[in-house]
Amino acid sequence: MSRLLVIGCGGVAQVAIQKCCQNSDVFTELCIASRTVSKCDALKEKLAGKTSTVVTTAAVDADKKENVVALIKSYKPDLVLNVALPYQDLSIMEACLECGVHYVDTANYEPEDTDDPEWRKIYDKRCKELGFSAYFDYSWQWNYDQKFKDAGLTALLGTGFDPGVTSVFTAYAQKHYFDEIHTIDILDCNGGDHGYPFATNFNPEVNLREVSAPGSYWEDGHWVEVPAMSIKREYNFPQVGMKDMYLLHHEEIEALARNIKGVKRIRFFMTFGQSYLTHMKCLENVGMLSTTPIDFNGQKIVPIQFLKALLPDPASLGPRTVGKTNIGCIFTGIKDGKEKTIFIYNVCDHQECYKELGSQAISYTTGVPAMIGTALVASGIWNKRGTLTTDEFDPDPYMDMLNKFGLPWVVDENPATVE
Ligand SMILES: NC(=O)c1ccc[n+]([C@@H]2O[C@H](COP(=O)([O-])OP(=O)(O)OC[C@H]3O[C@@H](n4cnc5c(N)ncnc54)[C@H](OP(=O)(O)O)[C@@H]3O)[C@@H](O)[C@H]2O)c1
Repeated sequence: MSRLLVIGCGGVAQVAIQKCCQNSDVFTELCIASRTVSKCDALKEKLAGKTSTVVTTAAVDADKKENVVALIKSYKPDLVLNVALPYQDLSIMEACLECGVHYVDTANYEPEDTDDPEWRKIYDKRCKELGFSAYFDYSWQWNYDQKFKDAGLTALLGTGFDPGVTSVFTAYAQKHYFDEIHTIDILDCNGGDHGYPFATNFNPEVNLREVSAPGSYWEDGHWVEVPAMSIKREYNFPQVGMKDMYLLHHEEIEALARNIKGVKRIRFFMTFGQSYLTHMKCLENVGMLSTTPIDFNGQKIVPIQFLKALLPDPASLGPRTVGKTNIGCIFTGIKDGKEKTIFIYNVCDHQECYKELGSQAISYTTGVPAMIGTALVASGIWNKRGTLTTDEFDPDPYMDMLNKFGLPWVVDENPATVE
């Protein structure tokens, strides 16, 4: 029995909200609030007559804490699910603290303006000290840990698929399969085809920033950074087939390196086709991925935001995307003195997602875990306080809900490993 405020109404939010409305026992009331309220109203209309959750809508610019505080004070939710953009994480967290409500998100903080000198100073210091140069890192949100503890509140960080489910898979492997986990390879394969020469599966700005950045992995207690797309492997994914995949920096590595005792190496690989990489390189070479504004005909334009306006809206890819995703983790380690390797993964079919909710599988595989993490906090099953990632809770109820809400998983005890 809880009242939920969801901020954002894009591809991921549309799935998370529809899934919350399939779980009306937990989410009795829900407010969809976003920058463009017409999108919220359209989703509310789509849900009419299909759920007993009472749905309302509101407009909010979540870049400003005061706006979120005002909305929380008027709607009075028990918790807030942030499925807007990572840029809004801190303003929404602060509003939750001020109003005494729990906070949940799917991606860790990064600033919209990476030229901001205040942010740059801290970023440059972190790059030097930790050795990876991604624009996002957990320090910004972990800094709020004591404040959330003192307020008796939970901030559940990163409950999408990766991060999110991949960290739950790790906690599950640790609990049921290993005495010690030595290596973790997180593999994210999208075998889907949308038929466009180039499109991104989620917010283009956030996505292209992530994949064009240097890769890095955790080994023997420190980060190893390598040039973007310089480590390539092939893997034969169950139900998808053989794919090229490339090592990327990814946020859950940071949390798992801190929380999984004795882990020696953690890597993250994502599959990309040659056409995607060629387009991305070309856009990068001509400056279209830049976040620094340029003057154009007397107007300031941010190249990557202009590119976003040209690319297909990820939320519109649903009807045309065919094929499957396979996302999971390969673990090696020791159980009862013997070496052990397992692969825990989920396979998700783009067209099945579209038939059920009108979304493609990338939004689906993020939105379902967003609902699950929120439901576990809302119902008090996950009740630790502070800023926490999904690997820090009991994985069993989350794993049960993945099966129940459309993302069934498999444990392969004899998988191929990645060299
Ligand atoms: N963990 C994972 O596995 C995973 C995977 C994919 C994505 N994600 C994360 O999921 C989140 C949502 O991604 P998406 O693909 O759904 O993005 P999206 O389609 O671009 O949607 C973003 C939504 O946030 C709204 N928004 C943006 N700025 C806002 C502001 N200042 N105030 C209020 N609302 C604002 C947008 O409103 P407008 O409609 O007005 O633009 C839009 O409705 C992102 O943080 C992304 O990084 C996580």
